[in-house]
Amino acid sequence: MLNIKNLHVSVEDGDHSREILKGLSFHLKPGEVHAIMGPNGSGKSTLGNVIAGKDGYEVTEGEILFAGEDVLEMEPEERAAAGLFLAFQYPVEVPGVATMTFLKAAMNSQREARGEEKLTTPQFMKLVKDASEMLGVRSEMLKRPINVGFSGGEKKRNEIMQMALLQPKLAVLDETDSGLDIDALRIVSEGVNALRGPNRSFLVITHYQRLLDYIKPDQVHVLAGGRIVRSGGPELATELEERGYAEFLETA
Ligand SMILES: Nc1ncnc2c1ncn2[C@@H]1O[C@H](COP(=O)(O)OP(=O)(O)OP(=O)(O)O)[C@@H](O)[C@H]1O
Ligand SMILES: [Mg+2]
Repeated sequence: MLNIKNLHVSVEDGDHSREILKGLSFHLKPGEVHAIMGPNGSGKSTLGNVIAGKDGYEVTEGEILFAGEDVLEMEPEERAAAGLFLAFQYPVEVPGVATMTFLKAAMNSQREARGEEKLTTPQFMKLVKDASEMLGVRSEMLKRPINVGFSGGEKKRNEIMQMALLQPKLAVLDETDSGLDIDALRIVSEGVNALRGPNRSFLVITHYQRLLDYIKPDQVHVLAGGRIVRSGGPELATELEERGYAEFLETA
């Protein structure tokens, strides 16, 4: 599903370029959930952003294959149409575009790119109603501009609602748990779990083992010093919670 090989990524930092990812590799198979954990600034969001095609990153080496296709050759909207989805660590506010209008446009442009019929308004309304109810997103919020005036937790729920509607093949969730209250954490996790299936994979970036009690990962990777320095099962997250990253920072 997602095969990342020897990925090197740099950013412009002042007047020089700084390498953030330094040969990162891993393979996420269809139906699997992998968690990425690692210290602040280790490059977790950079990884998510590069997969989604956000501007401002230079890939200097390596490759990202998604369902066998070279992701780095695709425009961000082509990646989305192919079934890639990124839930942002800091969802952006888009004044002037109502959430409903955005959702309908996003769903229909993806359907169009796949050669499918556009949704009729009643079909769309039904899908939005179901998804918003499942994730506890109030209908008034859908009429507001995207994320404008939403609380931190509301923005995160809104991201997961988009995911539920777009039904991606691969979802990258960047700290979706941060800022969620205990009930919202459960609701959002249930939303993710409801979407789990043999043909859908998740890359879950988190700082906290607690999320992984709700969303059981197949593998946990530690990102430090620009590389995956260790991979293991869910027990690795518990170990990290107890011991921190000190030993990995030394290795890195
Ligand atoms: N566009 C950019 N310009 C300059 N530096 C950047 C840019 N994007 C990321 N960086 C730097 O790259 C490093 C990795 O950032 P990134 O956001 O990927 O970390 P992270 O692992 O997601 O951290 P956190 O756990 O705090 O979310 C940081 O030192 C950051 O300052
Ligand atoms: Mg981050």
